[in-house]
Amino acid sequence: MPAIVIIGAQWGDEGKGKATDLLGSRIDYVVKFNGGNNAGHTVVIGNQKYALHLLPSGILTPGVTPVIGNGVVVDIEVLFDELDALIARGVDVSKLRVSANAHLITHYHRTLDKVTERFLGSRSIGTTGRGIGPAYADKINRVGLRVQDLFDENILRQKVEAALDQKNHLLVKIYNRRAISADEVVETLLSYAERLRPMVADTALELHHALEAGKNVLFEAGQATMLDVDHGTYPFVTSSSATAGGASTGSGIGPGQISRVVGIVKAYTTRVGAGPFPTELFDASGEFLRSQGFEFGTTTGRPRRCGWYDAPIARYSARINGVTDFVLTKLDVLTGLETIPVCVAYEVDGVRFDEMPVSQSDFHHAKPIYEEFPGWNDDITGARTFADLPKNAQDYVLAIEKISGSRISVIGVGPGRDEVIVRHDLLGDE
Ligand code: GDP
Ligand code: IMO
Ligand code: MG
Repeated sequence: MPAIVIIGAQWGDEGKGKATDLLGSRIDYVVKFNGGNNAGHTVVIGNQKYALHLLPSGILTPGVTPVIGNGVVVDIEVLFDELDALIARGVDVSKLRVSANAHLITHYHRTLDKVTERFLGSRSIGTTGRGIGPAYADKINRVGLRVQDLFDENILRQKVEAALDQKNHLLVKIYNRRAISADEVVETLLSYAERLRPMVADTALELHHALEAGKNVLFEAGQATMLDVDHGTYPFVTSSSATAGGASTGSGIGPGQISRVVGIVKAYTTRVGAGPFPTELFDASGEFLRSQGFEFGTTTGRPRRCGWYDAPIARYSARINGVTDFVLTKLDVLTGLETIPVCVAYEVDGVRFDEMPVSQSDFHHAKPIYEEFPGWNDDITGARTFADLPKNAQDYVLAIEKISGSRISVIGVGPGRDEVIVRHDLLGDE
């Protein structure tokens, strides 16, 4: 089993961190290939709860080599804060590898993220304010800073000055903010360089060697399919490739190496920030999902928008990513509902859409067409086999499996590491 990719199949926060952790001890490398500290993964191990942002969730498993790939944007200050917090809790972080080609998030990216959002007013995206969009914009504009630039002061200074030349005009003349000093930015970045140096590597080469040696490499996406810059609900997306293809460009391994794509999907849907969301609930049911599922952002603490399961989105994700297996999380959150609606198609201005409409305007107006399934009341958090689930819960899983485009191999019944039902081994041949 060479490379396996884990992706979010909805709008994020599906439980990717827990899924990575679940496979932990059987994996040799866990690679983050996109995004940055906009991600928030909560992993619960025994009575310990960890919130990870920039670091791959695999860092919590002894023996795993965590890798930050070239497709990630790295805020070094955040990186060290996160590492120090883990070290203080006794986690061994010494194996971390950081790609020399990953881009850096600096003070001016964070500032620009916040001021541009404010400038957009009612049209804002609701970003996490971590500087993600501006850092990726610089990368594509070819004025970005890379990790390797930290080790050539001359080059670093030239690049920061070139980037700020233009940005300070924007900040001062358009956004009415103070100019940012290139010297200060360079000084701050250089102050981290020596601590970072031993972690920096040609991670594409190391992963190539690992795969050649038959190691298990897991690629863990941040964000999700519907937030992907190409395939998501643009412009209400993040600025990176959060879909399975991103695992290849964001790490430097060939797509042919990927043998399995695991889509993480919640038994209902959530979204943080602005943008279309057909099954969103504004009533007591939405409040029920939010409070039962504890749906508050790991990164920003914002209450998540909640809605019913959306099968066209699951099918779309299965197709875009080539999902081989789904992990269905948070089934336990639905316990106590009399009936559970599932969106099976949309209606747009009187026309039925069985698949995601390609037009964003249509998707904005899409009304869900629901099928209702009977609920269950028994506590399912102790279920460890499919047969342990109440009949109605089994039927719900089988019904959504049938319309979601791939098999459901694992079912989450609680936040804990062992609170799962495994129907098919994600690393097995079956
Ligand atoms: P990620 O960003 O995809 O890694 O997901 P988050 O960590 O942001 O959000 C998922 C939340 O659901 C976390 O608090 C997890 O501990 C929790 N979680 C994951 N799987 C399950 C499950 O099966 N049941 C319950 N109740 N909680 C879960
Ligand atoms: P994980 O990995 C949920 C959302 C933001 C905003 C949009 C753009 O925990 O699933 P950005 O700061 O990336 O430019 O914001 O994307 N967003 C997420 N929503 N989970 C995440 O990560 C997210 N990362 C970004 O709320 O709508
Ligand atoms: Mg999250």
